[in-house]
Amino acid sequence: MAIEKTISIIKPDAVAKNVIGEIYSRFEKAGLKIVAAKMKQLSQADAEGFYAVHKERPFFNDLVSFMTSGPVMIQVLEGENAVLANRELMGATNPKEAAAGTIRADFAESIDANAVHGSDSLENAAIEIAYFFSAEEVVSR
Ligand code: PPS
Repeated sequence: MAIEKTISIIKPDAVAKNVIGEIYSRFEKAGLKIVAAKMKQLSQADAEGFYAVHKERPFFNDLVSFMTSGPVMIQVLEGENAVLANRELMGATNPKEAAAGTIRADFAESIDANAVHGSDSLENAAIEIAYFFSAEEVVSR
């Protein structure tokens, strides 16, 4: 089993619902450690840069608009197979298709307000961590 780091973002809908603690509890119960965290109001440039890979997709403007609609809570999670472990905790992108007991099934309303983001590969995790955190802000433990 590999110890990995991945990015998790609690999106504006879930921050507004005041469920940061409940979501953190799921990470901890699954054996994932929070090794960096910050709350941030994303600027348009922050969101456009973060989602640049999706810029040709029809929902890009809606996604950027949603992600800048309120503060997000960004954390680096560390643990065994952290990328996949976090994706399993999140559930499917569309909450209507998310398995029972997943974060999106329990806290998300729709595909465009779906509570959390998680890196989809180890390679993207490294890019996304560097997008939001300096090396000194990530503490392995
Ligand atoms: S994923 O998570 O990358 O596999 O999903 P994908 O379908 O490729 O979607 C990429 C991100 O776009 C968001 N998304 C949408 N936003 C607004 N409207 C619609 N219709 C929509 N469809 C997908 C989706 O939540 C993904 O965001 P992140 O933050 O990566 O989860």
